[in-house]
Amino acid sequence: MRENTAVAVASPNIALIKYWGNRDDALRLPANGSISMTLGGLETITEVAFTEGRRGDALTINGRPASPDSLRRVSQHLDAIREIAGIGAGAQVRSRSNFPAGSGIASSAAAFAALTLAAAHAAGLRLDARALSRIARRGSGSASRSIFGGFVEWQAGASDEESFAALLMPGGDWPLVDLVAVVSRKRKAAGSTEGHALAATSPIQAARVADAPRRLAECRAALRARDFARLAAVVEHDSYLMHAVMMTSRPSLLYWIPDTVRVIQAVAAWRAAGLEVCATVDAGPNVHCLCAPAAAAGIGRRLRRLPGIVEVLRCPPGSEARLLPRFPSSAKPR
Ligand code: DP6
Repeated sequence: MRENTAVAVASPNIALIKYWGNRDDALRLPANGSISMTLGGLETITEVAFTEGRRGDALTINGRPASPDSLRRVSQHLDAIREIAGIGAGAQVRSRSNFPAGSGIASSAAAFAALTLAAAHAAGLRLDARALSRIARRGSGSASRSIFGGFVEWQAGASDEESFAALLMPGGDWPLVDLVAVVSRKRKAAGSTEGHALAATSPIQAARVADAPRRLAECRAALRARDFARLAAVVEHDSYLMHAVMMTSRPSLLYWIPDTVRVIQAVAAWRAAGLEVCATVDAGPNVHCLCAPAAAAGIGRRLRRLPGIVEVLRCPPGSEARLLPRFPSSAKPR
């Protein structure tokens, strides 16, 4: 039996301008474009081994067999890659992350970026980053952005061919720090995929989507000018717009808990006092506190003194997804 194996690593990302709602759920063509920063220090490593003649796939996550739902989603993604490569072999997949599950980090972004790169390579495909981004998108929308490092823009596009991410600015050009204030590790009640499907039930979604080109342009301009005040204004506004859509969907989605609001208000007070920090929240209760490089250490100390904080993860801009020579024998604890 022939085996074709590859290993890849990818990092999650935090959306500065959010993806929420799809124009096509099956292809994950988003309702609007989005911009993110890839998160350094956090990694998912995935090995894919296709074996000729093998039927079905197997998946372990952090050394344990994955749930049937996770396996189904991974198998579906492998099917898309098998179709492109023209192979039928089943795969053994193992995956390990160095960040705590349920820590408020979009784990599906890193997971599907690493899975896409490893599976494509193991299937014999040699694809450029754009093609990988398009495939990763179909596994999890935000994974299209985790193919790249630094600051990344995913252009919405109107078709599978047009919807992919690209590098906007290398992280080294403005090494912002994302301090993730973890206030809960409970699994969220509604996953992103379910949430995207509800977006159109909010009357606010149409206005949010219509205004997206302006926010994207504002975010690009703020990043290029390294203008923190300008970036903070558009990042917070965009986060509030997405949560307004979530809260006004039917049924309503409320991801915040009281500790979320406490952190958001503390960040607002610190910025009013002159510190370069702003807050953005994805589909969960934890708050991403984006800091100018010089402000990060002081903000970290302040965050750790707030009540309700479980831990604070410190993430500088991270690297693009890449192949590794082998699956490491033990995960580095973070
Ligand atoms: C709030 O990419 O996790 O983090 O495509 O269904 O896997 P699926 O959803 P996902 O949605 C991310 C939503 C978000 C905003 C963002 O990352 O842009």
